[in-house]
Amino acid sequence: MSALFEPLTLRSLTIPNRVWMSPMCQYSAAVEGPEQGVPTDWHLTHLGSRAVGGAGLIIAEATAVSPEGRISPADLGLWNERQQEAFGRITRFVAEHGAVPGIQLAHAGRKASTDRPWRGGAPVGPDNHGWRPVAPSPIPFDEGYPVPQELSEADIRRVVDAFAAAARRALAAGFKAVEIHGAHGYLIHEFLSPFSNRRTDAYGGTFENRTRLALEVVDAVRAEWPDELPVLFRVSATDWLSENPEDPREGWTADDTVRLAKELLARGVDLLDVSTGGIAPGARIPMEPGYQVPFAAKVKAETDLAVSAVGLITEPRHAEEIVASGQADAVMLGRELLRNPYWPNFAARELGATGHWPSQYHRAL
Ligand SMILES: Cc1cc2nc3c(=O)[nH]c(=O)nc-3n(C[C@H](O)[C@H](O)[C@H](O)COP(=O)(O)O)c2cc1C
Repeated sequence: MSALFEPLTLRSLTIPNRVWMSPMCQYSAAVEGPEQGVPTDWHLTHLGSRAVGGAGLIIAEATAVSPEGRISPADLGLWNERQQEAFGRITRFVAEHGAVPGIQLAHAGRKASTDRPWRGGAPVGPDNHGWRPVAPSPIPFDEGYPVPQELSEADIRRVVDAFAAAARRALAAGFKAVEIHGAHGYLIHEFLSPFSNRRTDAYGGTFENRTRLALEVVDAVRAEWPDELPVLFRVSATDWLSENPEDPREGWTADDTVRLAKELLARGVDLLDVSTGGIAPGARIPMEPGYQVPFAAKVKAETDLAVSAVGLITEPRHAEEIVASGQADAVMLGRELLRNPYWPNFAARELGATGHWPSQYHRAL
């Protein structure tokens, strides 16, 4: 019996296994015109082939809730009808092949308006399809980044409304799970962390104030998302500052994450997707296989929230052990699924479980 290939039910949604595709930006949409932010054949193939490969839940990349929330001008968006319709083709295909279609809704905050990574990833300005990014406080992400525009309270309300509208569109497009991107140094994380949030109003200072935006977004998305379907939240469980005695910078910590997780659970979040980092350039991160799993395990041990683990998980037996030992309810794979879309089906074979090969390919088994 493989724990990794046991179904997992969140609310009324049953996900056929616990190997999930982590959201991965493809920076491959049109940067202007009516097709701006609209998924293309590339996105259908990228997501569809991982559904064919046997992943139980496919989470589409960080999809911007508003144009200025895109990481790059070529990001996907979900702020208009055309984008919603184009996602419908993808959700139908993914579901037809036995996987659950999910989507990550995002706002990139002060890390918005950058070039595609393979073109260097540097900030781009209005002459290059870019814009001035927004943030909780007017502090640039790093050297070479512009000073972001500080959001007013009215702007913050608009951000919350944009998340709600995008959730409504995601549902209409056929997604069954929605993930709020609260990690990796993007807008929600920028509010959570004292490293980037220096506000003195109701959205800054205390833990309660710094978590206010995250919780307002959760409430707004939960109000749109049906009771029978799950809401996920991706968090950076640590900024990797407090773990390092040589780094005097103050950041978000694993204990903060546990405290937030309890609030999220109370507000109807069903699973915490536990990642780390992304907010502080130069933070020392001890990267090794499964390096973020202990943070997922901590949340699982100290709260009643379900969790997923992600980060340098590449071996079937390692993934199996993470779930079987109760450190996480599921694992997400990123780069390993880029290398091999069929990883889940091969892992099932190795672990003696039933995979999900499409009938068209049975002659190859
Ligand atoms: C090409 C690429 C794009 C990514 N885009 C996103 C994203 O849109 N949202 C997100 O939360 N994480 C994103 N990530 C991070 C992954 O989801 C994952 O957390 C990370 O790569 C660690 O997992 P891995 O070691 O299995 O790749 C991205 C990673 C890669 C490699």
